[in-house]
Amino acid sequence: MPKITFVDRSGAEKTIEAKNGLSVMEVAIDNDVDIEAACEGSLACATCHMVLDAGWYEKLDPPSEDEEDMLDLAFGLTKTSRLTCQIRVSDDLDGLRVSLPKE
Ligand code: FES
Repeated sequence: MPKITFVDRSGAEKTIEAKNGLSVMEVAIDNDVDIEAACEGSLACATCHMVLDAGWYEKLDPPSEDEEDMLDLAFGLTKTSRLTCQIRVSDDLDGLRVSLPKE
């Protein structure tokens, strides 16, 4: 199972073995990472926003136009921000590191 590391606002890290097929948002919620995910993955909020480590952003498929539009509403947006409900867990994600946005 791929390992994903979540970094909270204090810098504390939590590495989790994630199940393929889930979204990164679902893995975060199941493991008490402090995101809201208010729309439960239907791309209608921006509260599953997290920041990917440099390098990982380029490795993943680029965000859809709809995701880009929602991301514009996210707080603490960065160049490597993504909505984690739009990222599917697969073996290719082994070693992924995502951080909660600063605000
Ligand atoms: S959970 Fe609402 S956009 Fe991801």
